[in-house]
Amino acid sequence: MEYILGVDLGTSGTKTVLFDKTGKKIASSTVEYDLFTPKNGWAEQNPIDWFNATITTIRDVILKSNVSSKHIKGLGISGQMHGLVMLDRNGEVIRNSILWCDGRTGKECEEITELVGRERLIEISANPALTGFTAGKIMWVKKHEPDNYVKCEKMMLPKDYVRFKLTGKYGCEVSDASGTNLFDINEKKWSAEILDKLNINIELLPELKDSVDIAGTITEEIASLTGLSPETIVCYGAADNAAAAIGTGVVSTGKAFTTIGTSGVIFVHSDEPFIDKKGRVHTFCSAVPNKYTLMSCTLSAGMSLKWFRDNFCSDEINVAKNLHKDSYDLINEGVAEIPIGSEKLIFLPYLMGERSPILDEKARGVFFGLNAIHNKYHMLRSIMEGVMFSQWQCLDVIRELGVKTNLMYACGGGAKSFLWRSMMADMYNVEVTTVKNEEGPALGVAILAAVASGMYESIESACDVMVESKDISRPSDNHLEYKKYYEIYKHLYSALMASFAKLNEI
Ligand code: XUL
Repeated sequence: MEYILGVDLGTSGTKTVLFDKTGKKIASSTVEYDLFTPKNGWAEQNPIDWFNATITTIRDVILKSNVSSKHIKGLGISGQMHGLVMLDRNGEVIRNSILWCDGRTGKECEEITELVGRERLIEISANPALTGFTAGKIMWVKKHEPDNYVKCEKMMLPKDYVRFKLTGKYGCEVSDASGTNLFDINEKKWSAEILDKLNINIELLPELKDSVDIAGTITEEIASLTGLSPETIVCYGAADNAAAAIGTGVVSTGKAFTTIGTSGVIFVHSDEPFIDKKGRVHTFCSAVPNKYTLMSCTLSAGMSLKWFRDNFCSDEINVAKNLHKDSYDLINEGVAEIPIGSEKLIFLPYLMGERSPILDEKARGVFFGLNAIHNKYHMLRSIMEGVMFSQWQCLDVIRELGVKTNLMYACGGGAKSFLWRSMMADMYNVEVTTVKNEEGPALGVAILAAVASGMYESIESACDVMVESKDISRPSDNHLEYKKYYEIYKHLYSALMASFAKLNEI
């Protein structure tokens, strides 16, 4: 039997999964790491933590599985998008990575828009300058940490750093590059025009490939650290959302998925690049060569629920530990008792500012309508509903652009919750399907590695075998009840926008 490894470098941790050729999960391992928030609205991680987690999880999975490493043919890596990793001339990390959910670069994004021109930037890169994207982060370091900037010999995205450590070779691929604001989506290369206008040397950026291309093999050093064979092929891999698309079989027109992970994402596959001129949703390259995606991103989706659980649900955490259960299952049980609308409590999930569709890094989280009747479970339900209202608002933008989503899949940690899935079906008013193997991005890059190492002819034919659908949640009459709250949810941001900006100025 032949096996492949998928490594998913997430924001809460790195998860490595070993699959067999049919997509069956053989073993998995996760290592969590810190997220640093040195200031309100900032978010950083240490790339060395990602690398260490990758080594530990690969070693762990090989040990757990009892599979001989010579049968592990390929490895793929997916990663959180947009983060900036800067390396010096010895390949050493210069500073912590500034992450996708960091909102410090509002001014730099205004500068980029001025230097390139808003329309021209969208024409070339398909997206406006966004605080989450990489170009603003580069401009911020150039301005605020010139010493770090001059030391920098290579810049890359999170998973590209880990792939470099595994193979010794620099590289980047199109699904992640298209989230940098520096990529020419028409030519599929770094944009000399944008780089020139921003005065960023193109030599700082790695060479670009397709997600399914082979980047190299595991170095001898990594082989001895992990137990992998030095012959294991490593493919370029993909941005986490593009990888999740492969792992849920979203590889043809009309198919879409919603992830409730740390972030919330709606991802629609398309043959042509659809562009939202208002920049509310993003256009990226897909991990399927020459295909595209329209995608929205809610910054704090699962992160909102995790924030509340970690700060206010120590009882559930302790009881779950004693019962060997998942604390989120206990939370779900409590939340299921609360009626739709959380008895008139609405949550705005803007804990890290917000990207889609409001594009406002100054926005902040809100519980609206708090009343003495509310308890902890009302607040938890309103968080789950608020996160879904945000997805619904993004889907409305996607629908407004004329993009059809005939088949919606649910993935990410949130898709495990029956409650979250039925909220999704009710709000979107469509059937929501899950896939049997819940490993979304890890399975997606394992599929890419399976194709790269010759086990399958194409991504589509690998998906046919390796991805299987499971539960279906059907929409119910609750749609109309949710709609009443959704209308207020949408209005709240416009009502609060000026106050968010004032709060930020203090
Ligand atoms: C997408 C985005 C997030 C990260 C999370 O644009 O910023 O989904 O990729 O890992």
